[in-house]
Amino acid sequence: MDLMQNITSLCKRRGFVFASSEIYGGFSAVYDMGPYGVELANNIKNAWWKAMVQEREDIVGLDSAIFMHPKIWEASGHVGGFSDPLTECKKCHSRLRVDHLLEDVNIFADEKMTEKEINELFDTHKSKIKCPNCAKSDWTKVKKFNLLVKANLGNFTEDWNKDPVYLRGETCQGIYVNYLNVLNSSRAQIPFGIAQIGKAFRNEITARQFIFRTREFEQMEMQYFCSPDQEMQEYEKLRQARWQYYLNLGIAEKNLKWHKHENLVFYAKQAYDIEYNFPFGFKELEGIHARSDYDLTQHSKFSGVALDYTDLKTKEKYIPHIIESSVGVGRTMLAVLTEAYKEEKAEGGETRIVLKFPAKLAPIKAAIFPLLANKPELVEKAKAIFNELKKDFMVEFDDSGNIGKRYRRQDEIGTPLCVTIDFDTLTDDTVTLRDRDTMKQERVKTIDLKNVLQEKLK
Ligand code: GAP
Repeated sequence: MDLMQNITSLCKRRGFVFASSEIYGGFSAVYDMGPYGVELANNIKNAWWKAMVQEREDIVGLDSAIFMHPKIWEASGHVGGFSDPLTECKKCHSRLRVDHLLEDVNIFADEKMTEKEINELFDTHKSKIKCPNCAKSDWTKVKKFNLLVKANLGNFTEDWNKDPVYLRGETCQGIYVNYLNVLNSSRAQIPFGIAQIGKAFRNEITARQFIFRTREFEQMEMQYFCSPDQEMQEYEKLRQARWQYYLNLGIAEKNLKWHKHENLVFYAKQAYDIEYNFPFGFKELEGIHARSDYDLTQHSKFSGVALDYTDLKTKEKYIPHIIESSVGVGRTMLAVLTEAYKEEKAEGGETRIVLKFPAKLAPIKAAIFPLLANKPELVEKAKAIFNELKKDFMVEFDDSGNIGKRYRRQDEIGTPLCVTIDFDTLTDDTVTLRDRDTMKQERVKTIDLKNVLQEKLK
């Protein structure tokens, strides 16, 4: 089976993810979250926030604005160096990333290569690289293409390009420039972290693989500020915590892999990615980097504001070193969908498609059905149970189609439990509770339903 194709089609069919602006012919590399997609994304963000902020005494949250002073992107190196190598197929005019084309023939370009160096590397191998769209092999010279997205906010002249501001290319810059505010307004002492979830924008050359790489996306980033001596010890702790986080998210360990960066940028002390076994192979899910004092040193230099920290006990003064954890919401969602997607042979030889999400990630926790939609007494009772449960759970009422079809629909959106109200309910106040994974059914007293659901959804 083509797993990627099946997941993409399920996401559209059942309302998880829609291509942006579809009625206008679509808008490349941008996606919209449908009714179940937004629930899944919110559950992922809540799980991340819980692990990163709620359960940590040493990490606080932040929500900085998308627009920031343009100098921030000069200080961070994005204006000068945030670029991908681009080539164009001379035959069909497809624009493609040179490092991705090289990867397809097992050549790995170094991120730090200059335009001249990457041209030399590409020249050596380009004769064996075919265009994925027209299969020809006729390429333009490689150009480095900056990924920052420009905007004209606050520019009331005709000239679009005059003094551009940028839509943020990563959320962490908002954390760095608020480091001092957080320090001064809280009782935070080093080591401590700041976490943030928010949108980021990149002019990605090739948007590939559905929600894996998009031009507008959400990041979940945590920056941990520590002393130079603590940096590597805290880094190892963060690596272990992030690995465990994915196991807790229901990802099988065999589908996770560490990727160590061999060619580090000059300031980095260490860099690992956690890779996930996506339908197209192991690819980066999250980056965990030890960044030394580079970020705050740069912002101190460009803003003219001292960003050093004085240790209360030792009186030692230093620019805090930073370790970071950075992952996309959409990319996590694709990993979670890949992990959950199952096709099983059901009774009668039919194929059952089921998303086996862990309960905490499931968009709908339980679906409530009257057995027969044309029996008002069943509908009324089912509605009453639904109205009671919705106070505590994300539940859905469904009285359309036959019961088998309703089960299949809930299986496809990953609902762990279904509650059916039948004629016995009216006499003995019990309902049928059906488990998504085992498809086993049991009778439960209506009065116990809330507790039973709570227990089963743990
Ligand atoms: N602050 C560090 C940073 O932004 P990155 O490796 O460029 O590092 C971190 O991005 C994570 O953000 C990636 O591991 C991925 O999960 C997500 N991400 C990056 N670019 C993305 C894109 N175009 N679409 C979806 N997710 C993306």
